[in-house]
Amino acid sequence: MKTITEKNKVTMQRIFSGIQPSGNLHLGNYLGAIKQWEQLQYEYESIFCIVDLHAITVPQDPIELRKKTLEVAKIYLAAGVNPDKATLFVQSQVKEHTELAWILNTMARLGDLEKMTQFKDKSAKSEKETVGVGLFDYPVLMAADILLYDTALVPVGQDQIQHIELARTLAKRFNARFGETFTVPQGKLSDEGALIMGLDDPTKKMSKSAASEYNYISLTDEAEMVRKKIKKAVTDSGSEIVYSDDKPALKNLINIYTLLSGKTKEEIAKLYQGKGYGDFKNDLAEVIANFLAPFQARLKNISDDEALAILHSGAEKIRPLAQKKMQAVKERMGILF
Ligand code: AMP
Ligand code: TRP
Repeated sequence: MKTITEKNKVTMQRIFSGIQPSGNLHLGNYLGAIKQWEQLQYEYESIFCIVDLHAITVPQDPIELRKKTLEVAKIYLAAGVNPDKATLFVQSQVKEHTELAWILNTMARLGDLEKMTQFKDKSAKSEKETVGVGLFDYPVLMAADILLYDTALVPVGQDQIQHIELARTLAKRFNARFGETFTVPQGKLSDEGALIMGLDDPTKKMSKSAASEYNYISLTDEAEMVRKKIKKAVTDSGSEIVYSDDKPALKNLINIYTLLSGKTKEEIAKLYQGKGYGDFKNDLAEVIANFLAPFQARLKNISDDEALAILHSGAEKIRPLAQKKMQAVKERMGILF
């Protein structure tokens, strides 16, 4: 996507997205977010972040956090994010993210944050007195990530749309008070991939933090594990393979099949006419395993050093943009710099 600026210079619009380096990245992360990035990086100036400061809003083991941060970078690369096209970096390595988050905190209202469903879900299990302030404030940091770079589009899964709405609200509020400073971003969903449900419960999203590993297919699961998990995946009543809203478990499995095989839902329905769940599940497990095998082979071939070098040069490249935006913000607010 290209836009013409005042000086008639054609510039590419920018996209920004991020994933937390916690838990096991799964098919939902891939189909909801990363798969879109791979396609969009050739049409947009792309920035993909590993949001470690978001991950620490719930307790993380330091050794695991370091390991996961590198692993997520490698997953981006193995999934086809091209470091010559897109910028990859770690959120904490560009300090302006936290600086802008503080400033946006002074614009955000309790009412804005109290309605966030992710916060309500994540904090539901704890007593109010013990819920972390960082967890509550998390969407404001996310708004800072997005607004710092004049992001036009944010390619994410469905669960993040409410957070992007907050980024839009904060951008508009700041602009109204201090003058045009931030681009008002828009979310971008991938079609069926936008919300992949849990294999053990099709009423809840597939999630890294699920209690059971039978909830998700991890991007690092081996073929045998994939077969086991698909075999155990819950199904609906009846034995017909049809795509319909009153068969939510099957609908989710067909979505995954469609997105990874390129076959349409109609083709799948035809293929399994007169056959049952057994055949369907066996084939689905193979489709997933065949997608994961080359992905995992690429993942294995990326060294820590290579990933680290890409992340460092990404942060170097992106920092001046963040600094320039912070100067504009401070100037408008009357903060000396
Ligand atoms: P997270 O795992 O919360 O760090 O999410 C990283 C990205 O994956 C975000 O863009 C999410 O919207 C997306 N995502 C997470 N879970 C799912 C899911 N079950 N279905 C589709 N997208 C998802
Ligand atoms: N909150 C997002 C998630 O859990 C991750 C994230 C943080 C993000 N900052 C972002 C996504 C900026 C898009 C843009 O999935």
